[in-house]
Amino acid sequence: MSAPLLEVSDLEISATGPLVHGVGFRVDAGEAVGIVGESGSGKSLTLRAVIDLLPRGVRVTGGEVALNGRAAMVFQDPLAALDPLMSIGAQLWEVCRTAGGLDRAAALARSHELLRIVHLPDPERRWKHLPGQLSGGQRQRVVLAIALATNPQILLCDEPTTALDVTVQRQILDLLAELRRELSVALLFVSHDLAVVADVCSRVIVMSAGRVVEEGSVAQILSAPRHPYTKMLLGAVLPIPPMDAVAALAAPGELS
Ligand SMILES: Nc1ncnc2c1ncn2[C@@H]1O[C@H](COP(=O)(O)OP(=O)(O)OP(=O)(O)O)[C@@H](O)[C@H]1O
Ligand SMILES: [Mg+2]
Repeated sequence: MSAPLLEVSDLEISATGPLVHGVGFRVDAGEAVGIVGESGSGKSLTLRAVIDLLPRGVRVTGGEVALNGRAAMVFQDPLAALDPLMSIGAQLWEVCRTAGGLDRAAALARSHELLRIVHLPDPERRWKHLPGQLSGGQRQRVVLAIALATNPQILLCDEPTTALDVTVQRQILDLLAELRRELSVALLFVSHDLAVVADVCSRVIVMSAGRVVEEGSVAQILSAPRHPYTKMLLGAVLPIPPMDAVAALAAPGELS
């Protein structure tokens, strides 16, 4: 069996005391794995430990993270992830040049290609726009384009749709599924919402109080949850409306 893209074993993360204990899971190339759990259960810290991006004062105190590829992070708030004073085109171009290792002309071509891949509407016109001039959904598309500019094998998504309204959430979830399908990029997708995770992922890890309490396929977790906490989460699951239902709600032809 080939080495997994990401293997986390017996991970322990601590500040003054332990916050995450004995967490282990693997993500294979092109796979979409979800991490669900209540607020404070350790989802974000686990995700951040994968790319050594833990907050000050928090560190890995045990176990191992083996990442066999490039990872890029996508956060909940796209506005905070972007420079408010620089046009979105310039920001994307910059990342294509630095992280993508392209010359000026190639970075320009790649930037335009990436804006097409994430379906930013009217990308030529929006190239010069500042992040504040875009909608929340459009900004998250730009953030995804910037993440893709680093040519990642895995996208680490921390509640990437939580700040968006339900119609826009649907569009971004569909985009993530498309990126996975078309570019074979794996997803490690954190959410407190089991319905969102079930929509995007094939496998789910359930965390509670800094530990993994259950792991299984989406089908197994939805149909036969074992842990009481998972059963409780399931009670709160509402399906995400399909795109045609959402399209009936959204303005015709508008992508946000
Ligand atoms: N910088 C920090 N210093 C000390 N403790 C922290 C720090 N960041 C997070 N924690 C603690 O670690 C635990 C896990 O936090 P984490 O952010 O991973 O939770 P989460 O599952 O992502 O929650 P949410 O759904 O609210 O985002 C929490 O108890 C939190 O208070
Ligand atoms: Mg979090």
